[in-house]
Amino acid sequence: MPRCFAAAPRGVEAVTVRELEALGATGVETDFGGVHFEGDTALLCRANLCLRTATRVLVTLKTFSAANKVMLYDQVRRIRWDEHLTPSMTFAVDVKMASRPTTHDSRHRANRESQIPNPKSPDRRLTPHASRLMPDFPPHFAALKIKDAIADEMRKLTGARPDVDTKDPDVRVHAYLSGSRCTISLDSSGKSLHERGYRTKDTGAPLKEALAAAIVGLSGWDGETPLLDPMCGSGTLVIEAAMKALNIPPGLKRKQFGFMRWPGFDHKLWQDVLSQARAGIIEKPRQPILGFDSDPEAIKASIENAGAAGVAHAVTFARRPIENLRPAGDRPGIIIMNPPYGMRLTTPAKSQIPNPGSRLDSDMQPAAYSLQPLYQSIGDVLKHHMKGWTAFIFTGNPETVKQIGLRTSKRITLFNGPLECRLLRYDLY
Ligand SMILES: C[S@@+](CC[C@H](N)C(=O)[O-])C[C@H]1O[C@@H](n2cnc3c(N)ncnc32)[C@H](O)[C@@H]1O
Repeated sequence: MPRCFAAAPRGVEAVTVRELEALGATGVETDFGGVHFEGDTALLCRANLCLRTATRVLVTLKTFSAANKVMLYDQVRRIRWDEHLTPSMTFAVDVKMASRPTTHDSRHRANRESQIPNPKSPDRRLTPHASRLMPDFPPHFAALKIKDAIADEMRKLTGARPDVDTKDPDVRVHAYLSGSRCTISLDSSGKSLHERGYRTKDTGAPLKEALAAAIVGLSGWDGETPLLDPMCGSGTLVIEAAMKALNIPPGLKRKQFGFMRWPGFDHKLWQDVLSQARAGIIEKPRQPILGFDSDPEAIKASIENAGAAGVAHAVTFARRPIENLRPAGDRPGIIIMNPPYGMRLTTPAKSQIPNPGSRLDSDMQPAAYSLQPLYQSIGDVLKHHMKGWTAFIFTGNPETVKQIGLRTSKRITLFNGPLECRLLRYDLY
């Protein structure tokens, strides 16, 4: 059984573990930024089609010690590349350097350190973490060495070498360098799995789909209570929740996955996996799933995106400012929202304050106005009108969020790209 790695946004690994176990994966092991697992080809297809929180699935070919460029080149050449490539195919090499040691590293640390050939090499004199990185080994150099090794080995095995295509290769080779350990994998996903293909419109600061799915997963929402996003933007949280409730595989709209261009791609097996997944789709959600926003453009985008995702019949979107939020459905449920979180807080003249629903209000841009009144309104409406519900607020601005004036019962650290964020839970008694 090949060993695989499902890469996921940092902080969501626990949800990815649950998803993999539900798909039947074995040997599931959490790591930093993803989850290792074992599975056959059918599971690899299912993982690409069905994982909501993963961004790509890598199939491990080999892990080895590569303390210098000669070792890296030699070890890569020892892989049977003719099983994964033909001379007429194109390939590309992506290199990722570890940003901190992983469980995988610690397992191999003793072994690795005993294999570093020159104990007096300059990297040994650096900090303990830096000493495990190789200063003479920048990622682009590693990529070049790996590419040469693959091309040279293919020429030896087949008499010809495949071309490199960095934009749209048939086979994407992934190298993960952590200290002197190197793992070579094949990227079975191709484009990132967060690209579901339903987002035809966005409102300037949409969450990536895999992160939105992870937030829904971390909220513990199980479809048995209503779900409400009162600041839905382009509808990502609501759409991901609806796809989960209806058991729609997130990859159903995608035409291409990396593994489809591999030699020996089993078309029949893929069709079987697709049919099985389609057979599990549920017609209607058990509880209301709703999205509101003060910006009419956001509502338009949400409706369009929900249509493209095939969940339009299962969700309701309406223009409504947060101040008018009221319970929906016959029981208290879950509120999930991602309010604007401008990076700077100043209070300009009133004439400069943009409409809260406008595009200027996006996550990553510094806000030139105070978000304080908006966050106070969120706190007021939650306190006075949503008793019994549980609210989750995803924010990159923990300072502004204090204006909500409610006590958090849980704080989870997540990353929206490079930005450290928090998912805050409020139990509204
Ligand atoms: C960061 S965006 C949400 C993005 C969304 N999660 C997505 O993935 O597309 C914040 C949204 O809050 C909305 N908003 C701002 N002030 C609001 C208010 N007073 N009432 C309701 N929505 C508001 C904005 O229009 C914007 O669409």
